Amino acid sequence: MARTRERNIVLLGAPGSGKGTQAERIVARYGLPHIATGDMLRAAIAKGTEMGREARRFMDAGELVPDEVVIGVVRERLTEDDAREGFLLDGFPRTIGQAERLDALLGGAGRGLTHVIQLDVPEDELAERLAGRRLCRACGKGYHVVFDPPARAGVCDACGGELYQRADDDETTVRNRLAVYRAQTEPLVEHYRAKCILSIAFGGGKMPDEVFEQVAEILGGAAS
Ligand code: AP5
Ligand code: MG
Ligand code: ZN
Repeated sequence: MARTRERNIVLLGAPGSGKGTQAERIVARYGLPHIATGDMLRAAIAKGTEMGREARRFMDAGELVPDEVVIGVVRERLTEDDAREGFLLDGFPRTIGQAERLDALLGGAGRGLTHVIQLDVPEDELAERLAGRRLCRACGKGYHVVFDPPARAGVCDACGGELYQRADDDETTVRNRLAVYRAQTEPLVEHYRAKCILSIAFGGGKMPDEVFEQVAEILGGAAS
C-alpha cells in the first residue's frame, strides 16, 4: 500500500526551538509540504482578511489563536493535493484540543501521524535565538544575526529580499509566548509519548545542521 511509506510529521517545540529552521531542511530532503500555522496566520494578516484581523490581536499579545480558527485552517490545507502523501506540520497542534481534532481528522481519512519530533532546547537559549532572528520579506527564509547571518546584513542570501524582525519577537511578547508554551503546549509531549510516536532531537548548543542529523535519523531513509 502506498500509505505505508507516508511521512505525516509534527514538529513540536517552544518558540525559537528551531521548528522553521529544521522544516526548511526536512522539506529539502523529503519533499513534504511545510504546513506552518504561524506562517499561514501571518499571511492572512498581511492580506488583511477577516481571519487575519481576528488572529492578529492574539498573536501580538503572544497568546494562542482560538482552536476553531486554527483547526479550520489546517483542515482545509490538509485536503490539498500536495498533502495527500505526507506533510510536515510546524506549530500545530499546540493544545490537547487541537491534537485530538487532528487525530480525528486524520483517522476519518484512514491516516495518522507517523512521527512527532520534539525539538528540545534549554530555556535560556530560546530568548537569545528569538532576539536575533531575521526573516526574508520576499521568500520567508530565516536567519540569525549571530548564529546564521546572511552574507550582507539585512539582505537575503537566497533571493536578495529585505530582512525584517517579527512583530512578536520583542522581549515582553517572547516572555509570554514561552509561558503560554509551557502551560498549553508542553502537555503534548506526554500526550504523544503515550502514543509511542514521540522522538526527541536535542538542540542545546548545537548548530542547525547537527540538529538535522538527529532529525534525519528519526525520519530515516531517503525521500519516499
Ligand atoms: P509560530 O510562528 O509558530 O511561532 P513560535 O511557535 O513562537 O515559534 P517560532 O516560529 O518563533 O520559532 P521556531 O521554532 O520556528 O524557530 P526558528 O526556526 O525560527 O506562532 C506564532 C503565533 O501564531 C503564536 O504565538 C500564536 O499566536 C499563533 N499560532 C500559531 N500556530 C498556532 C496554533 N496551532 N494554535 C494557536 N495559535 C497559533 O529559529 C529561531 C531563531 O533561532 C532563528 O533566528 C534561527 O536562525 C535560530 N536558530 C535555529 N536553530 C538554531 C540552532 N540550532 N542554533 C542557533 N540558532 C538557531
Ligand atoms: Mg517558526
Ligand atoms: Zn529571500
